[in-house]
Amino acid sequence: MSYPFMQSGKFLTMEGTEGVGKSTNLAFVRAWLEARGIELIVTREPGGTPLAEEIRNLLLAKRTEPVDETAELLLVFAARAQHLAQVIKPALARGAWVLSDRFTDATYAYQGGGRGLSLAIIEQLENLVQQQLRPDLTLVLDIDVQKGLERASQRAELDRFESESLAFFERVRAAYHSRAAMAPERYTLIDAGQSLERVQQDIAARLEQLIQA
Ligand SMILES: Nc1ncnc2c1ncn2[C@@H]1O[C@H](COP(=O)(O)OP(=O)(O)O)[C@@H](O)[C@H]1O
Ligand SMILES: [Mg+2]
Repeated sequence: MSYPFMQSGKFLTMEGTEGVGKSTNLAFVRAWLEARGIELIVTREPGGTPLAEEIRNLLLAKRTEPVDETAELLLVFAARAQHLAQVIKPALARGAWVLSDRFTDATYAYQGGGRGLSLAIIEQLENLVQQQLRPDLTLVLDIDVQKGLERASQRAELDRFESESLAFFERVRAAYHSRAAMAPERYTLIDAGQSLERVQQDIAARLEQLIQA
């Protein structure tokens, strides 16, 4: 017999275009929550389990064979199903919080906004893979696309997504904006063009509200 999934921890996600500061601020959120005694799992997408990390490598590798957009979409959700089953749901069920570097909003932004795939189909896959589970809070770090890419390019060689055009990332950014506008209680848009200190003040202010809620 299977029981409906019961969540007692909170599920937080960090989103935004390349180089916006997700990884940098993930460490800040972790330290902030742990200092308040919250048990937290920090993870990422695509990835977060051995199988899902293999799928991540398949997705990010630059290749000469063109990657079919639907194949890409299904790989993203295959990795997500594994990540949910192995990591996210068990952690939330035992009362831990989960903080993920990207989640399904990235699929709406990259495969939906960027590639132009149907948002209705993404929603169907979201319902299939996640049932009712959605993040409690999504921090969307927002920056001028070019500025973000400059930051990302100083970091490492560009992967298959990072090598996309400026126009692609403008569509990704616009998709994040429309996701955030649709459900302002779930999303917080943070101006990531500010100094790191100011960005982290904004994040801390939102986390303060969350733990008081
Ligand atoms: N607010 C900020 N101001 C200046 N540089 C930043 C800021 N936030 C992050 N960075 C730098 O930008 C680069 C990309 O940040 P990173 O956290 O790796 O981005 P992401 O994970 O979103 O791709 C890193 O070198 C990081 O130190
Ligand atoms: Mg990162």
